[in-house]
Amino acid sequence: MAVAAGVGAGERCEAMNWRDRLADKVEELLRRRLRARQARQRAASADGRAGAGPGAPPGAMSGPVLYYTETLIDHFVDPRNVGEMAADEANGYAVVGDPSCGDQMKLWIRVEDGRIAAIRFRSFGCPGAIATSSMATELARGKTLAEALALTDDEVIEALGGIPENKRHCSLLAINALHAAIRDYQQRAEVREATDAVQAAAGR
Ligand code: FES
Repeated sequence: MAVAAGVGAGERCEAMNWRDRLADKVEELLRRRLRARQARQRAASADGRAGAGPGAPPGAMSGPVLYYTETLIDHFVDPRNVGEMAADEANGYAVVGDPSCGDQMKLWIRVEDGRIAAIRFRSFGCPGAIATSSMATELARGKTLAEALALTDDEVIEALGGIPENKRHCSLLAINALHAAIRDYQQRAEVREATDAVQAAAGR
């Protein structure tokens, strides 16, 4: 500790008193900040137990950082259109993955009269991936191919009532799989048409 020149033992110069007062003030400030932070943490925990946190949409179930809406939880615990289709049932198929998290989705469609008559999926991923896959298949079922191709991940998220920001990418899995399965159907249809045309020409 630096001592002012000329100050004897037991004496305190003005600079030392000023430094101690400053240290007291800094300590008090730090204590106040700590108390405020603890109060915020307690409030956040209470929000998490009681329901939605600040900024959570209606129906949100947990804390302010990572919340799932009731609709999303419903589609996670009771996903619609889960399953597979046999090769002779489906006329469009896709498997897509998200390289950032390793999740994967397989999707089968049966197109009849230009509409998605049946759709099934298997999702190997997080709750967000399963819920968005379920909702995307619900939105796509019965739609024309053009309508299904126009579906966006934002519409899937909106139908679920929202999704935590760090889970938004999960919805891309379903939309990408849906669009890829439709393209697969279209390519198969083109091949069939070309084959029919060749056979018809050969039969003439
Ligand atoms: S965390 Fe990757 S799909 Fe959900």
